[in-house]
Amino acid sequence: MNLTIRPVDLEADRDILLNFHCRGNYESASPWARRMEYEEYRKKWLSTSQPESFLQSLAKSLEDERTITEIWEDEDKAVAYVWIAFWDIPDYNITVAEVNDIAVANAYQRRGIATQMLAHAEQLARERGAHVFRSGTGIENLASQRLHAKQGFETYHVLYEKLLVDDPTRNWTRGSSNS
Ligand SMILES: CC(C)(COP(=O)(O)OP(=O)(O)OC[C@H]1O[C@@H](n2cnc3c(N)ncnc32)[C@H](O)[C@@H]1OP(=O)(O)O)[C@@H](O)C(=O)NCCC(=O)NCCS
Repeated sequence: MNLTIRPVDLEADRDILLNFHCRGNYESASPWARRMEYEEYRKKWLSTSQPESFLQSLAKSLEDERTITEIWEDEDKAVAYVWIAFWDIPDYNITVAEVNDIAVANAYQRRGIATQMLAHAEQLARERGAHVFRSGTGIENLASQRLHAKQGFETYHVLYEKLLVDDPTRNWTRGSSNS
């Protein structure tokens, strides 16, 4: 493995970004959303306005020169991606660097790539003035939880939800590109 790092190219990397982002969303989704197979979840997501919203958020984020967006390649093959955005808490003189996305292609997982990406991003975040490095994941994403714990992250916030219907996905039109 000969890893190299390059910045994201929003147009050329469109499909790569959508695939990595959707996978991260699914792995970090609520248990009720994860009852469906990934392919079905992905098909639904791609049929919504979410992909364009995500790409617009990424483009907007890139207007901040501190933003970190990297594609890690092995021999010109995109094998991992990370997006970290910065925000300042007004009046407190605190800058937060937040991991919005981190993902490694299936065939390259468990080889320390995400660990290297987080360490690299942390270094850049320090250099760019961040005081706090934040990230988040889903309750079922044990891989991500362990990755973060190993990198020294600590839980600072807990989210709750309560289902008010048996299956919130029941009105999704399965397999339809118009849903
Ligand atoms: C989470 C993810 C980024 C980890 O990437 P990776 O390159 O495989 O991670 P690393 O090889 O650096 O693993 C670091 C540690 O994380 C933990 N870990 C990683 N994958 C794991 C898995 N499948 N199961 C359990 N623990 C796991 C382990 O503690 C591991 O250390 P070890 O290999 O010494 O035991 C990767 O699984 C992924 O891309 N998943 C899909 C997208 C996603 O969920 N992104 C995170 C959204 S918050």
